[in-house]
Amino acid sequence: MTSDSRPGSSVQRLPAEQLHAHELAALRAWDSHPCPAGWQLSPRAVRLFILGSDGETLGGQVIERKIYGNDVLVERAIVTLAGQRGLLLAGEPGTAKSLLSELLAAAISGSSTLTVQGSAGTVEEGIRYSWNYALLLRDGPTPAALVPGPLHRAMEQGALMRFEEITRCPVEIQDLLIPVLSDRVLHVPELKGEGAMLLSRPGFNLIATANLKDRGVNEMSSALKRRLNFETMQPLSDARLEGELVSREAARLLAAEGIETAPAPDLTGLLITLFQELRQAQALGVALEPLSNVLSTAEAINVLYSAMAESWYLGGGPPGPAQLLRHLGGTVIKDEADDRRRLGDYLRLVRSHRSDDPAWRALLEGEAWL
Ligand SMILES: Nc1ncnc2c1ncn2[C@@H]1O[C@H](COP(=O)(O)OP(=O)(O)OP(=O)(O)O)[C@@H](O)[C@H]1O
Ligand SMILES: [Mg+2]
Repeated sequence: MTSDSRPGSSVQRLPAEQLHAHELAALRAWDSHPCPAGWQLSPRAVRLFILGSDGETLGGQVIERKIYGNDVLVERAIVTLAGQRGLLLAGEPGTAKSLLSELLAAAISGSSTLTVQGSAGTVEEGIRYSWNYALLLRDGPTPAALVPGPLHRAMEQGALMRFEEITRCPVEIQDLLIPVLSDRVLHVPELKGEGAMLLSRPGFNLIATANLKDRGVNEMSSALKRRLNFETMQPLSDARLEGELVSREAARLLAAEGIETAPAPDLTGLLITLFQELRQAQALGVALEPLSNVLSTAEAINVLYSAMAESWYLGGGPPGPAQLLRHLGGTVIKDEADDRRRLGDYLRLVRSHRSDDPAWRALLEGEAWL
């Protein structure tokens, strides 16, 4: 679940370039820095769009921070895209790889929708181009019968193409990108003359993402690896930053659903401690067995959102700490019996050391629902 929709909007989720249209327009008005060919903003303005302006007004607008805790990585990613190597954002699930790739494409090319979603069923036609069969049968292969895919369009427009979950595709499909990244040319052998060879315009490049819990990047060919710069997104380790992000995103999700309530700081603080201790498998000086399910910031946002939504729709008053545990079951533990046991070990430890603290005592009451 993501938070990218506005209250009252007629769609569930807007692409980043529409959601943040005011900020992008303000940055374009403010920007006088050197800009790589084909880019809509300078690298400096792209950095500000993603990491925020720290309260400073630029072009009449304060720019909100969108990615937390990976500042140096974000800077390197921008520099990579200004060159002729593609970018691969790798990392654990829920570390904002897709979000960063969307924000980069929105800021650099003004469009984040030239996207391929990688899966075992991704086929060549879905990436490069396909044909309108009615026109093909009538006139043969002509430019009018060609239906450009995201790669064709990105090369033609000089824009960024996003390739989500690239390592879930068969290696032969991934390797289609090698000649494109090396020679910046896409051949269309069916067309004769003009159109048979598409040379990319300045600004074209590739941002791929790969989830380290999936098949991983090991199966990627070394030829493709050499044409990509790798960046690994880290989960947020700073509890203060994570708390700020989780409460902001949960509040945004609630507002988007028309729910007029915001999470209390105490509740968010408790949730973040819970997540950080479970994620680090370390609490009160004791090493714990780590959970196998993912405990990313995205899951923390979902737990908080679910607890708040439940009390809004079904409860009578703001949610208490017990509700956090109730929703941890469905959003994080799922059907993993071993994780349930590991969580039980953690809660036993908490019970023996923190039962003097009313907030933790209240949280433990939720164990009955797990
Ligand atoms: N460091 C972070 N900065 C900002 N938002 C974050 C961060 N980490 C997680 N999030 C939140 O988590 C949500 C999910 O992130 P996203 O879907 O981009 O993750 P992902 O790494 O692509 O996950 P997956 O591997 O499951 O595809 C984001 O929309 C954002 O709200
Ligand atoms: Mg993703």
